Amino acid sequence: MKEKENILDKNKTTVDEFENNIRPSKLDDYVGQDDVKENIRVFIEAAKMRNESLDHVLLYGPPGLGKTTLAHIIANELGVNIKTASGPAIEKSGDLAAILSTLEPGDVLFIDEIHRMPRFVEEILYPAMEDFQLDIIIGNDGNSKSIKINLPPFTLVGATTRSGDLSSPLRDRFGIICKLNYYTNEELASIVKRTSRIMGVSIDDDAALELAKRSRKTPRIANRLYKRVRDFALVAKDEKITLDITKKALDRLKVDNYGLDEIDIEYLSSLIQKFNGGPVGLETIATSIGEEVTTVEDVVEPFLLQEGFIKRTRSGRIATEKSYAHLGINHSYTLFDTVENNE
Ligand SMILES: Nc1ncnc2c1ncn2[C@@H]1O[C@H](COP(=O)(O)OP(=O)(O)O)[C@@H](O)[C@H]1O
Ligand SMILES: [Mg+2]
Repeated sequence: MKEKENILDKNKTTVDEFENNIRPSKLDDYVGQDDVKENIRVFIEAAKMRNESLDHVLLYGPPGLGKTTLAHIIANELGVNIKTASGPAIEKSGDLAAILSTLEPGDVLFIDEIHRMPRFVEEILYPAMEDFQLDIIIGNDGNSKSIKINLPPFTLVGATTRSGDLSSPLRDRFGIICKLNYYTNEELASIVKRTSRIMGVSIDDDAALELAKRSRKTPRIANRLYKRVRDFALVAKDEKITLDITKKALDRLKVDNYGLDEIDIEYLSSLIQKFNGGPVGLETIATSIGEEVTTVEDVVEPFLLQEGFIKRTRSGRIATEKSYAHLGINHSYTLFDTVENNE
């Protein structure tokens, strides 16, 4: 029993009070992701009208874009409980069986980092998702039998940063697949304003927009920076958060004006300076900056690609003109080495 609780509680310890207060709990408060939001709204409505459980939902996209938040909103809008677990924490089939057996009709089971669930555990999930059945084998080699246990209808919400790592049998069992995208500056500004409102602090529109612009298009980062800016404003005894204090704070925090963080800058500097702008392979560049390949691929590159700082070509990653300009490095110097990129 103890073990089961650990798995279920694993995520909770990382969510602090600030997070709990600012995390939207209704679809209407969830900013942006309009297509995803409207589709989910319809599917939830339909499931309620039919009095059925919502089809299984897969949410994917880079960290900090609102997957966990959306999973909780789905449960809330359905009016059911949510049980949470994380892929890497489910080590044995018994772990998963234990979680599944706590489900009540209609409940949401949220599995974060679902791509990191061991394959043999995943296989238990197939009949559970498809037929709401748990197939377990009891006994040992010579004398084992398989028993089937009926589960109540439930909704699995899986979250992953890498949909490509999901096995296709698992992926195929999700009826609803949603990709979360990076946010616009305006959307992030409205998230920051909402956060500030909840915190009871007033913030100027231009200050919120400045914060937004430097947040790597990511709500988690916007909220994190907001917290720090609020500290600066408090200590400076400012009554509200102005553009001026925001800029000062962000400069002090060394957040650059595209919101690129230290790893992004290291990545780009390495790509340009050590590898002449590329093309260079993912693993080589990850090693050169001392980061895990998965971090580089899931966290660093999606943003750099989306913002046009790098390009992915068949022969490797290359730095774009924008990167050279951003780092203040003269491109023409290396142009001859990198210009051959015609796929
Ligand atoms: N669409 C959104 N509207 C408002 N706040 C959001 C939104 N998406 C994310 N957030 C905020 O950003 C933070 C990170 O979101 P989270 O759901 O934990 O991201 P993920 O699970 O994708 O890593 C949360 O504190 C949440 O309050
Ligand atoms: Mg999450």
